Amino acid sequence: MPAAVIIGAQWGDEGKGKATDLLAGRIDYVVKFNGGNNAGHTVVIGDEKYALHLLPSGILTDGVTPVIANGVVIDIEVLFGELEALSARGVDVSKLLISANAHVITHYHRTLDKVTERFLGKRQIGTTGRGIGPTYADKINRVGIRIQDLFDENILRQKVEAALDQKNHLLVKVFNRRAITVDEIVDDLLSYAERLRPMVADTALVLHEALERGETVLFEGGQATMLDVDHGTYPFVTSSNATSGGAATGAGIGPNRIDRVIGIVKAYTTRVGAGPFPTELFDESGEFLRKTGFEFGTTTGRPRRCGWYDAPIARYTARINGVTDFVMTKLDVLTGLERIPVCVAYDVDGERFDELPVSQSDFHHATPIYEEFPGWSEDITGARTFQDLPENAQKYVLAIEAMSGARISAIGVGPGRDAIVVRHDLLD
Ligand code: GDP
Ligand code: IMO
Ligand code: MG
Repeated sequence: MPAAVIIGAQWGDEGKGKATDLLAGRIDYVVKFNGGNNAGHTVVIGDEKYALHLLPSGILTDGVTPVIANGVVIDIEVLFGELEALSARGVDVSKLLISANAHVITHYHRTLDKVTERFLGKRQIGTTGRGIGPTYADKINRVGIRIQDLFDENILRQKVEAALDQKNHLLVKVFNRRAITVDEIVDDLLSYAERLRPMVADTALVLHEALERGETVLFEGGQATMLDVDHGTYPFVTSSNATSGGAATGAGIGPNRIDRVIGIVKAYTTRVGAGPFPTELFDESGEFLRKTGFEFGTTTGRPRRCGWYDAPIARYTARINGVTDFVMTKLDVLTGLERIPVCVAYDVDGERFDELPVSQSDFHHATPIYEEFPGWSEDITGARTFQDLPENAQKYVLAIEAMSGARISAIGVGPGRDAIVVRHDLLD
C-alpha cells in the first residue's frame, strides 16, 4: 500500500494527529502538504503528551522520514523551536526533509495577519494570527519568499525589497504601524540558512523515488475540508487546500498515486474561529461536549465551539476528498448522554436541503433537522473491538456510517495511542 492521505472531515481538530500516529509504525514517509503552524495536533503516548504545529505528527515514530513539502508555509523560528523541544524529549528529528519550494512566513506576514483582523472588526475570520493568510497571498501574488531564496542573498534581498515596497505603504499609511526594513528581514532569514541547508531537498523527487520503491507514504493534511479555501465555508476558511487534492499539488505527486483517503471525523462537531456552523449548541449540551471533550484549541487555547454530528457535512467531505475510510474519534465523549441528536438535513426558510446548499447565505441560516439516537452509560474507553461497545454505541456508529458516504473503519474511544477500535485495516 504505497500512498494514503489523512484529511480533516469537519472544521479541524478531529484527531488527525492521533490517526497519523496510529499508522506511523507502518509508514516510511509522513508528509505535511498544506498549512503551517496554524495547525495543532495533540498526540498522547503513554503518559507523554506532544503538541505538534509545523511538524507532521509522524515525526514521533522512530524510523519514519518526516517531510515538509512545497505546499506548506514555514515560520523558521517556530520550526527550530519545535525541533529543539522534541529533541530535548528524546525524539529523533534528524531525518526531517524540507522542500526548497516551500514559502517562508516572515515578521511582516505575522504583523499583517494581526492588523488585518483588527481592521475587519466584527467581520473578522478569527485567524490563528500566525501569518498564514498573508504568506499564501504573497505566494499567489508572486511576491513570496521561498526556502531556496535563503541560499542566494542577492535574490533574497531583491525579493524582500519588492515585497516590502508595497507592504510598508500599507503598514504605515493604512495600519499606522512602523515600516519594516529590508535589512532586518534579510538578516533574520539569513541567520537560519546554514542550519536549514542540510534539511533542504527536492522533496517531490524523494517521494517519487520512495513510491517507485514501493515504500509507504502518508500525507497528513492540516486543517480540514470545511476550512479549505476552495471547498470550505469561504471566507471563514484557512488559505490553503486542506482537501486530498492538496496532497498532489502540495507535495508534487500525481493524483493517481493516492490509494487511500482517510477522513477523520469527530463523533460530534467543533469549530474554532468565526463562520457558519449549523449544529452549534449554545446550551448545556454544548458545555458538556466542551468540558468532556477538552475542546480548547491546541494552538491558541481558545474554547472550541461545539455541536452535534452533521451528516450532510460528512457526505460532502466524502465526495470532495474521495474518502475511502473514516476514522471516527471521541466516541467516548458522548458516553452518559441519554439521547444523541444527529443532523440529517437542513431547513432553510421552510425548504429541506439533504445536501449542503449551494449558496453560502443559505448555509449561514440553515437550521439542522435532527434524528435522535439512544445513548449509553457504560465506560467505553477500554473497548478494543466493535463488539466490546455497548449496543447503542454500535447502533450510533452504524447509523452514522449509513449517512456519511464511506465506511467507518476505526473508532476512537480515548486520547491514548491504543484507545481505538479498528474495524477495517486503513491501509488495505
Ligand atoms: P488534530 O488537529 O486533528 O490533530 O486534532 P487536535 O489534536 O487539535 O484535537 C483532538 C484532541 O482530541 C486531542 O486532544 C486528542 O488527544 C484528542 N483525541 C483524539 N482522539 C480521541 C478519542 O478518541 N477520544 C478522546 N477522548 N480524545 C481524543
Ligand atoms: P488543525 O490542523 C481548527 C481556523 C482558524 C480560523 C481559520 C483561519 O489543528 O485541525 P488561519 O490562521 O489558518 O488563517 O485561520 O481557520 N484554523 C483551524 N481551526 N484547527 C486547525 O488546524 C486550524 N487551522 C486554522 O481558527 O477560523
Ligand atoms: Mg488541531
